[in-house]
Amino acid sequence: MDNLPYTALIKFPDIIPEHCDEHIVRRLTSMRGQFADQPAYEQLLSNEDMLLYEVYAFIQPEVDGELDSGISIIHPGKVGQEYFMTKGHFHSILDTAEVYYCMKGKGVMVMETPEGDWNVKDLNPGMLLYVPPRWAHRSVNTSDSEDFVIFYVYPAHAGHDYGTIETQGFRKLIVDQGSGPQIVDNPRWLAPEDRK
Ligand SMILES: [Fe+2]
Repeated sequence: MDNLPYTALIKFPDIIPEHCDEHIVRRLTSMRGQFADQPAYEQLLSNEDMLLYEVYAFIQPEVDGELDSGISIIHPGKVGQEYFMTKGHFHSILDTAEVYYCMKGKGVMVMETPEGDWNVKDLNPGMLLYVPPRWAHRSVNTSDSEDFVIFYVYPAHAGHDYGTIETQGFRKLIVDQGSGPQIVDNPRWLAPEDRK
């Protein structure tokens, strides 16, 4: 049997695990079409393919009963008025939940259901967030200077469905129009009944 208990040291202040199974790196190019302000996106990209976020993942077999966990680090920055964020996803197996724990920085989790219900929760260090089954989720760093660092754990067989979000984004965007983070409507978003 090779599925044995393990530990991993996740030490302050860096909060980067001493080891992990996969280090996922997402740059501007992997978020093409995801930010509302396309000209601002192209402008930034022409300068540098910036690092937006990283995930240090502990990966278990994709079977019912196992749990995947890890650390997401969303770096500070904006594309136009929109804060740096993760791609966001539904779980392929929709009836699976996820738990987040904020370790550093500040940000929000943007969430929505297939029916178009939406929810946004602020996250600060020490806060736990429960994302119930069926809620898509995206992490957004709302700090101008600090990394947003969150621990997550979810069922290892849940899988990721990025398709719906890639097509039209989330119903709500998190932007800074000069007075800090604000929730605004995403003009690209369509109600479920209006989608083809
Ligand atoms: Fe998830």
